[in-house]
Amino acid sequence: NWTNASIIADQVAAIREQVGDKQVLCALSGGVDSAVAAALVHRAIGDQLTCVFVDHGLLRAGEAEQVETDYVQATGIKLKVVNAADRFLGALSGVADPEQKRKIIGREFIRVFEQAAREIALEGDVEFLVQGTLYPDVVESGGGTGTASIKSHHNVGGLPDDLKFALVEPLRTLFKDEVRAIGAELGLPEAMVWRHPFPGPGLAIRIIGEVTRERLDVLRAADRIAREELTAAGLDRDVWQFPVVLLADVRSVGVQGDGRTYGHPIVLRPVTSEDAMTADWSRLPYPVIARISTRVTNEVPEVNRVVLDVTSKPPGTIEWE
Ligand code: XMP
Repeated sequence: NWTNASIIADQVAAIREQVGDKQVLCALSGGVDSAVAAALVHRAIGDQLTCVFVDHGLLRAGEAEQVETDYVQATGIKLKVVNAADRFLGALSGVADPEQKRKIIGREFIRVFEQAAREIALEGDVEFLVQGTLYPDVVESGGGTGTASIKSHHNVGGLPDDLKFALVEPLRTLFKDEVRAIGAELGLPEAMVWRHPFPGPGLAIRIIGEVTRERLDVLRAADRIAREELTAAGLDRDVWQFPVVLLADVRSVGVQGDGRTYGHPIVLRPVTSEDAMTADWSRLPYPVIARISTRVTNEVPEVNRVVLDVTSKPPGTIEWE
């Protein structure tokens, strides 16, 4: 595609011009924006770029592997993976309040990233940080640029002064659909290019109650089934986001075989939206919902009830926390 190719060529030239022979850092989240931004920068300056992926243990099934394996294979990017699941889970232990969870995750993220950035900085002068800022983000924040920390995406306050970077923002003039097209043109994995938006705090805000390893496993198993069935029905692009929420502190009675069960409900929250500011609940075909329900209750023993959220935004939010 000529347009995408020329956008890529222009950005590659601009990045080379801005960065020169300096080292550049990028935090990958698993999302489209940071993945495409990093791939563009890599196309421009190769191994002057180092990416950091903080695996906080709150991603969905297969997402960490997608970054560590598929993405690295597709791009050849130099990636430092930090497996920090124990640390995040430790910090979240006993915490049920949504804003508290966000604060803790943001704080831990910045600490882990800082540590990784320091280690990388030891190997050479790092002066730049890549951010996947899109045009709508620029407009929303009043158009400013300059030095900053990690995108608000990660709910982070900022980096310390000795770790301030100039920003490289190759997606600043682009909309989401253009970013996806460029990602595809750069050969990124299809599943990554078409990934639905996913909150920085991840599954932690989709477990209503305390976040534990066991609860994450339950939610991950249910979420995987919901996503598989949505994809199998060819509906990925009709839905904006499809949160699956575990009501971990709620139990309800069920029956399976000869036995009574006392398990947990999950909530399906598929929504359509243009920009996440407002949303409507998706009218998914009943057969798709039925397959998800049957599979989840058969394959995830801890879940004995599946409910559908039919609330628009407003008054509901997309996420439950
Ligand atoms: P709500 O739930 O407010 O969500 O309707 C609107 C959009 O924002 C996402 N979201 C978050 N993203 N950190 C993020 O990076 C967060 O703490 C967070 N909370 C909500 C949500 O997934 C939806 O796309």
